[in-house]
Amino acid sequence: MDSEMILKWMQERKSVRSFTEQEVDTRLIFKIIDHVRLAPSGFNAQPWRFVIVKDKNMIQKLYQYSGYQKQLNTASCVIVLYSDLLDVHGKVEDVLHPEMSPDKKRSDKKALLETLEVAPDVLQSQGYIALGYLLLALTAYSISSVPMLGFDLEKVKAMLKIKGSILSVVAAGYGVDEGHAHHRLALDEIARLYEREERSLL
Ligand SMILES: Cc1cc2nc3c(=O)[nH]c(=O)nc-3n(C[C@H](O)[C@H](O)[C@H](O)COP(=O)(O)O)c2cc1C
Repeated sequence: MDSEMILKWMQERKSVRSFTEQEVDTRLIFKIIDHVRLAPSGFNAQPWRFVIVKDKNMIQKLYQYSGYQKQLNTASCVIVLYSDLLDVHGKVEDVLHPEMSPDKKRSDKKALLETLEVAPDVLQSQGYIALGYLLLALTAYSISSVPMLGFDLEKVKAMLKIKGSILSVVAAGYGVDEGHAHHRLALDEIARLYEREERSLL
């Protein structure tokens, strides 16, 4: 039964760009993010961070910084998802699972610090796992949303005192409509079964 629910939310979720005046409860947003933080990440680094904006004046500023994208004119709330690798660095010890052996802790810590040093993008991009979780969890609570990146991101960062990299700015609220019908590449254009014959041709 539960698997049917998640599949239903995947079908239902569409970008919605017009919202009613009904306010989204701040506690509900925090409850949703409390679930979103269960998303998986390499070394359990959890590179995602969130700022929730409810203040109408600040949302108006975001509207300006987005080049006047209409969804920000009616959004009840905006959730800014960003990654902050300096903060991740400061929490390296905290993310190690308490049930790990001391040896495993030592090697995971070393590998995580190395990844932060030589391949930070690998960790930063994992913030998008949280975006997927967030959009589906909002849908589960009948909250419509649209993820966005079309902003003057430096201005957004300065206004919200964000030190890392913004991954998405999600405008959310109770939708006036359901958004456009899904339009996607066909399944066989994006997924294939690896066949033995294919390998033998190499
Ligand atoms: C990272 C990201 C950035 C996006 N930026 C914008 C944006 O700036 N403005 C906008 O209207 N939609 C934006 N979108 C929404 C996409 O246009 C939309 O997800 C896509 O066309 C598929 O439509 P759907 O979400 O209705 O299924 C963005 C989506 C993602 C994931």
